[in-house]
Amino acid sequence: MMQRILVDLRSDTVTKPSRSMREFMARAEVGDDVYGEDPTINMLEERVADLLGKEAALYVPSGTMSNQIALKTHTRPGQEVICEENCHIFNYEAGAPALLSQVQMRPLSGRFGVLDVSEVEKAIREDNLHTPPTGLICLENTHNRAGGTIYPLNDISEIANLAAQKGIPLHLDGARLMNAVVATGIPAKDWAKYVDSVSLCFSKGLGAPVGSVLSASKDFIKRARKFRKILGGGMRQAGILAAACLFALDNNIARLSDDHANAYLLADKLKNLPGIFIDMKQVQTNMVMVYVKHSKLNSLSLSQALAKKGVLANAVDAERIRAVTHLDIDRDQILQAADIFKDILQDA
Ligand SMILES: Cc1ncc(COP(=O)(O)O)c(C=O)c1O
Repeated sequence: MMQRILVDLRSDTVTKPSRSMREFMARAEVGDDVYGEDPTINMLEERVADLLGKEAALYVPSGTMSNQIALKTHTRPGQEVICEENCHIFNYEAGAPALLSQVQMRPLSGRFGVLDVSEVEKAIREDNLHTPPTGLICLENTHNRAGGTIYPLNDISEIANLAAQKGIPLHLDGARLMNAVVATGIPAKDWAKYVDSVSLCFSKGLGAPVGSVLSASKDFIKRARKFRKILGGGMRQAGILAAACLFALDNNIARLSDDHANAYLLADKLKNLPGIFIDMKQVQTNMVMVYVKHSKLNSLSLSQALAKKGVLANAVDAERIRAVTHLDIDRDQILQAADIFKDILQDA
């Protein structure tokens, strides 16, 4: 018999829409969004553009589509896109930049997902017969694979100054930007003003079942809308889905601080257990990276042992397990998960 799932820490994408979110969705006014006639989608696009201080926005089905439309709109085939080597766009979007935009990715190593401006400067190509022109720089905040780390605003502003001098646009994969906003108290606009386009996801910590919003200038969004159509992302009466995002904007932002407190609590409970290591400086939002340095267990076998006892957390590589807190997990479940980690590590 399958063990009942007690705590699902695999990702903040596993949240299910609450009853009140579903009721709000059911009442949404809808229309044909491909004709620009869905009032709920129009309202969501206006609200997100306003939140980020941008002229316009575009509702799309997923974070991947949002990022890839941004790449396609910013670049021309044959260009190079600078990014951090662990970023989502480079690692987890199934090679889409090469396939859809015909660009070459230029991954640079960063520190907890953060690029050093001098490294970015070195990577920008001079005009030369032999080299691919640099067409875009991508940043990710918070950084997923680095463990939910926050991109310091000062680093973003330095990279933005460099990008402006060189005439290169900047795209922010802000799938979890609102986690950075809540953790730092720095408003979304103050992050977004440094970049030309921002992708914000609603189906992660914000708890909606579907949807991301790409924000930028009016002209950019007009061109992006065309690419959304090309990719089959024009969704007709999708206001019923966009309503979940409006609900999340009103109800699920401030509460991200509960997820951050739960992640910190989990890290604190785990940090002195035998055979694992946690860098508390890295625990900045809703993720905990657990480094497994156990004589009998590696990240995969520990993750399997946890699953057998009802705690789900993914091994992200050979030495790390990632635990993600979200709105379907409360403090008691965190304490329960910590006890199960303890039992396994002590008995192994
Ligand atoms: C940082 C980041 N960007 C983009 C995405 C893609 O989002 P989606 O799964 O909606 O395509 C994810 C998904 O986890 C993510 O973590």
